[in-house]
Amino acid sequence: MSSVLFTPLSLGPFGLVNRIAIAPMCQYSADDGCASLWHLQQVMQYAMSGAGLIILEATAVERHGRISHGCLGLYSDANEQALARTLAAARAVAVPGTRFGIQLAHAGRKASTQRPWQGGKWLQPHEDPWPISAPSAVPFAPGYQTPEALDDAGLARVKAAFLQAATRAVRLGFDVIELHSAHGYLLDSFLSPHANQRTDCYGGDRDGRTRFPLELAAAMRAEIPASMALGARITGTDWSENGWSQDDAGEYAKGLKAAGAAYVCVSSGGSIPGVSIPSGPGYQVHLAAHVKRASGMTTRAVGHIVTAEQANEIIAKGDADMVALARAILDNPRWVWHAADRLGAKIEYPPQYARVAPSLWRAAHLARPEDFKA
Ligand SMILES: Cc1cc2nc3c(=O)[nH]c(=O)nc-3n(C[C@H](O)[C@H](O)[C@H](O)COP(=O)(O)O)c2cc1C
Repeated sequence: MSSVLFTPLSLGPFGLVNRIAIAPMCQYSADDGCASLWHLQQVMQYAMSGAGLIILEATAVERHGRISHGCLGLYSDANEQALARTLAAARAVAVPGTRFGIQLAHAGRKASTQRPWQGGKWLQPHEDPWPISAPSAVPFAPGYQTPEALDDAGLARVKAAFLQAATRAVRLGFDVIELHSAHGYLLDSFLSPHANQRTDCYGGDRDGRTRFPLELAAAMRAEIPASMALGARITGTDWSENGWSQDDAGEYAKGLKAAGAAYVCVSSGGSIPGVSIPSGPGYQVHLAAHVKRASGMTTRAVGHIVTAEQANEIIAKGDADMVALARAILDNPRWVWHAADRLGAKIEYPPQYARVAPSLWRAAHLARPEDFKA
């Protein structure tokens, strides 16, 4: 199979060395939004991975926009300084050409929850919960806090927080800002007819519900330099009746393109509780393919993409322009090196590790027992 996965891709103002992205993954290991030693090892490891694009985890634009007490933030000078150290260390060991992005996020009605390994439920009174906000005063699920519906001043505050975090991301030297408008967090809850019950110009039909995220995307694009790319994570479907559909996602992607975004990453689910999601290999790829066809937008597929051949085929078939991997990278940080070997693509190894190149030895992860016979 020829390796299209390892061909370059133009992403707005610059090129990516290959079509592989590391998906944003919350580590719940920050201290009041500040990146920790855990992030240092994590992002340095990503930097050496060979992936063309690395998107740092959902990063809250305001303190109350964090999912949990452990979420990364970019709402204070201390946050910015901590991330500057992390990014400088990552860039120092990065494979040449690696591009770094940050996912800017606001958790909306899913904020103020425990870390997953502490239960993932809404914070209890003794756990220092905080007030949450959303488009409408509709709780995510029974038991969750009822959010305060954002009024005009609240919308202005959120918009200003996104723009200020974007300014910090520019100062930090990121290549990409990815707006998180998926998984039921603030921007996604504007899109969702289940969560958004507003009667002003930011609710109602699809045009109304997409208005705030699209205005925000356009304002962010105007705020950041032309040398940076703006992208967005979007919901391909919320998997519910009368909810957010793949057609809605296609139209929303068109709007993002008009607002100046360079790509969308098509995920799904998380918008409402209790829906059945047919998770399995490549289960969201058809959503990316639909969005790509409908919008003509550079599109990233994500979700249960595990093997090199599977990733390559998604690109070869034209279902997406790039793929994002999350759990496969946590499981095997050398995934890209091994994929290149399987697909016959030549990649740069860090010189310190050059002797692990499969042309110089038969790597254990690939070997069949007969390779080791005398
Ligand atoms: C530990 C973990 C943390 C995640 N955090 C984020 C996040 O910060 N932002 C986001 O958009 N998605 C997040 N996700 C979802 C992933 O980016 C990805 O879309 C999902 O895991 C499906 O991809 P996979 O099958 O390759 O794991 C997270 C997933 C995992 C496993």
